[in-house]
This record gives sequence, structure tokens and C-alpha cells, in this order.
Amino acid sequence: RPHSCPRHSGARTMLPLLLLLLATAHGLDDLPTLVAPVLASSSLGGQKTASTFVLDQPRCVFTNVSKDTVIWLVVADPRAVPDFNNSVEPGGPGREFQQFLNSTFAYMTLNTTILNYPCPKNPGDITVLRVGSETRCAKDKKRPTCNGPLPGPGPYRVKFLALDGSKPVAQTAWSEPITLRTAQPSGNIPVPGSGHSAGMIALTSILSILFAILLAGLVAMLLWGSDASSGSSTFSKPEAVTVQRYNTHHVYDQPAARL
Ligand SMILES: *[C@@H]1O[C@H](CO)[C@@H](O)[C@H](O)[C@H]1NC(C)=O
Ligand SMILES: *[C@@H]1O[C@H](CO)[C@@H](O)[C@H](O)[C@H]1NC(C)=O
Ligand SMILES: *[C@@H]1O[C@H](CO)[C@@H](O)[C@H](O)[C@H]1NC(C)=O
Ligand SMILES: *[C@@H]1O[C@H](CO)[C@@H](O)[C@H](O)[C@H]1NC(C)=O
Repeated sequence: RPHSCPRHSGARTMLPLLLLLLATAHGLDDLPTLVAPVLASSSLGGQKTASTFVLDQPRCVFTNVSKDTVIWLVVADPRAVPDFNNSVEPGGPGREFQQFLNSTFAYMTLNTTILNYPCPKNPGDITVLRVGSETRCAKDKKRPTCNGPLPGPGPYRVKFLALDGSKPVAQTAWSEPITLRTAQPSGNIPVPGSGHSAGMIALTSILSILFAILLAGLVAMLLWGSDASSGSSTFSKPEAVTVQRYNTHHVYDQPAARL
């Protein structure tokens, strides 16, 4: 009897979920919906920057499409996801990279035939895609499918779409929202309250200068002490210099040199 209660509430929450899934599956064009793109494993490093992110290639995802099928990556503002129209031509009106987040809320890029995503992958193959890596075409209206730098921190959602000619034949589900780094001082979007960072830099500099002075004092004391006690100053002096540089060089090279 205590078990019946959870089961009932489970069934009650499952029904709307099931309906939602059915509704999504029978979306605008009845395409099979495959596993969503994911960010490449973070062990690679540089998985996200202020204007790019790295995805795993869709290997072994589109297993039932013909050989000349072209796989596109769709990058969308999350608001454009619910009524995204798979039939709009890549690079056409409403899909231009150069208008992204201005007058369009999705663009399509990184087109390649399915032959470039062989399955299984060969050992040692680089099987990732960097979204946002092409700076040359970012402003070129003649290249509306440019893989240009993303215009801000996002979030963005992405999916792969398989087109046979201009006909959508398969798609993945949409990714989770992807938010980019904002800590870059050269970012396109001004970060509110970025005045803090200047203050922080000044404070850090002052602290590191004070620390360097303190350290220099300690080193001088040590040197003086060892000179007085043993006289083997030829050994301890180079060591002391190394210690001083190590603690200051990456933060504030010049004042440390002057000390
Ligand atoms: C593969 O595609 C064909 C036609 O495109 C379709 O009839 C068939 O059901 C598909 N098979 C699977 C497993 O999706
Ligand atoms: C999707 O886009 C195509 C091509 O622009 C258009 O013909 C079709 O009516 C659109 N479908 C919906 C549901 O808006
Ligand atoms: C945004 O779109 C408007 C109208 O299409 C255009 O005048 C403006 O230059 C665009 N802004 C950017 C940043 O592309
Ligand atoms: C990608 O699409 C663009 C525009 O449709 C086309 O010019 C280009 O040749 C395509 N590239 C590949 C590799 O299919």
C-alpha cells in the first residue's frame, strides 16, 4: 500500500511528458530525431572561448541517409527553437550569419557531406568541430553560411540537420543551452560592472608589489643571516635570486626587476 502512492503520482507526471514527446516527435516535418549534439569533452582544453565552442562531430548519428546527404549545423537563439523551420534554405533570408541576433535568430553553417563523418571513426582522427572559428567571412554578406565568431555569450542551442538536396531528411534533437565565457576583456559585448576588473587589477598589482618588497626583505635577512653564520654566500645567493623571480615574474615583472 505505501508503494501505490508514488506510482500514481509517477503516472500522472508521465502522461503529459509522453504527450509532449509525441508532440515533439511529430513536429513540423515528421523527421526522425536523433541524439543531440554535445560539447567535446573538456579534457581537450579550450572547449569554450568568448566567441567559439567545440562540439563532437556527428559520427555514427545519421546512419540511415544516402551518401550525398549534406549535414548542416544549426546555431540558434533558444527563442528560435520551438518553431524552427527545417525547410528554410541555408544561408537564405532568415538564416544569414551576418544578421544573427539582429534580424535572424538562427543560422546554418559547417555544411559537409555525410562522407566526412565516417562511422566508426578511425583511431587518431580529430572528431570535433569548432563553432565560430572563421573570422575572414564574418562581415561578408556573400558568405551567409560563414562559421563566424559568435556575437556574444549566448546562450545558444545547436542541432545537426541532414538535407538531401533542399529536402530535410533527418535531424538531431537540440543541444542543451550553451553559454560562452565572458571573462575576456576584448569581448564584443560590454560586461556590466566591468569597472570592477580594473580595480581588481590595481589592487592585485599593489598587493604583489608589497609582497615582492616583503619577500626581498626576507631574502636580504636570510642572505645576511647565512653570510654571518657560515660565509658560504656563493651558494645561497643564486638560490635567493631564483626565489625572488619565481614569486613575482608572472604578475608584475617590471617593479620586481627594479627592486
Ligand atoms: C531508413 O530510411 C528509409 C527510407 O528513407 C525508411 O523507409 C526506413 O524506415 C529507415 N530505417 C530506419 C531504421 O530508420
Ligand atoms: C517553412 O519554410 C518553407 C520555405 O521557406 C515554407 O514554404 C513553409 O511554409 C514554412 N513552414 C512553416 C510551418 O512555416
Ligand atoms: C541590424 O539590422 C539592421 C536592419 O537590417 C541594419 O541596419 C543594421 O546595420 C544591423 N546591425 C548589425 C550590427 O548588423
Ligand atoms: C556549403 O554551402 C555553401 C552555400 O550553400 C556552398 O557554397 C559550399 O560549397 C558548401 N560546402 C560544402 C563543403 O558542401
